[in-house]
Amino acid sequence: MNERVVLAFSGGLDTSVAIPYLAEQTGGDVIAVAVDVGQGGEDLDAIAKRAIDCGAAEAEVVDAREEFAADFCLPAVRANALYMDKYPLLSGLSRPLIVKHLVAAAQKHGATMVSHGCTGKGNDQVRFEAGLSALAPHLKVIAPARDFAWTRDKAIEYAASKNLPIDVSSKSPYSIDQNLWGRAVETGFLEDIWNAPIEDIYSYCADPAVTRDPDELVLTFDSGVPVAIDGETKTPLELIAELNARAGAQGVGRIDMVEDRLVGIKSREVYEAPAAIALIAAHQELEAVTLERDLARFKKGTEQRWTELVYDGLWYSPLREALDAFIDSSQTHVSGDIRMTLHGGRATVTGRRSDASLYDFGLATYDEGDAFDQSLAKGFVELWSLPSKMASARDARMKEGGQ
Ligand code: ARG
Repeated sequence: MNERVVLAFSGGLDTSVAIPYLAEQTGGDVIAVAVDVGQGGEDLDAIAKRAIDCGAAEAEVVDAREEFAADFCLPAVRANALYMDKYPLLSGLSRPLIVKHLVAAAQKHGATMVSHGCTGKGNDQVRFEAGLSALAPHLKVIAPARDFAWTRDKAIEYAASKNLPIDVSSKSPYSIDQNLWGRAVETGFLEDIWNAPIEDIYSYCADPAVTRDPDELVLTFDSGVPVAIDGETKTPLELIAELNARAGAQGVGRIDMVEDRLVGIKSREVYEAPAAIALIAAHQELEAVTLERDLARFKKGTEQRWTELVYDGLWYSPLREALDAFIDSSQTHVSGDIRMTLHGGRATVTGRRSDASLYDFGLATYDEGDAFDQSLAKGFVELWSLPSKMASARDARMKEGGQ
């Protein structure tokens, strides 16, 4: 039997060209695997057929949408995962799941090699290969776009010479990655960071400047997991899809940023992530009501570390697992309802309620019913400021002595 190579196949120019190229380079059979993480667009069965037409020995479609929603997007909500306080990690979350399915396919088909279409300038190559090192270190990785320095023109020329059934005329000038958790748009005129994004590049989020009626909804969380919208129980996939539609229609979730890539480059990225932005805002607010103060403060640092690990391709790492164990424990009481208004590009929390609330009306009120004993505050403030008081007295003393 020929050696086999499993290729992460998207159906685009680069991975289509990779099929005959890998067959030539390795003398092996190419197994194309298209993983559905909710990217929408072209039908995946049509994509699989194209892989066969490009010369793949076999093509597989894996529906990983439920798994992506439940095991990757929801943990990101619980971690309030926003890289550089903005980017909800949509590409960083999908790659480890794609890797998992590539490894399963390699096992099933007896493959010894795995291939992806990433270039050498991005984070995704790292995420693929770090994931593969953790899950299947025996598999050899081939990255044609990086290792053989394919340019777009070279790829088109090669596709024509092999008569590959791909339409290159309609290809957009942007590099786009999209899935259930959002959409990333980069390159083209966006590489000039002074250029404002144009309306054409958006597809998940409507123009927030257009006048329309606001949309109000109630999100229910159970231990940090969003489980219902307006009282109706949903699967994670249904819930995220509905929020993408409703928040997206109000222009919520547009992000334009300059980002620090792991490989050291600063890059301009435009993202659209309506559900992610709305869910994280709601979750943060419910945590504000239900997390004890020190737990909340400590969790902030954990969230940032978790987010950077996932961004940096280390999903399959002992630290991510340990941080998730901490985050799990922190979420015990993060249950209740958040009411939000979606409007004009913003998801604004307007109400919260929870059986596990730590908000005590009696302690907070300035009106009738005040249960807070203000006389206790006097001694507390005195002791609280004692160390600073002592330090300034010392400074004054030393200054005098020094003169
Ligand atoms: N910069 C983002 C990240 O590293 C998005 C990457 C998108 N990938 C792409 N091939 N366009 O997570």
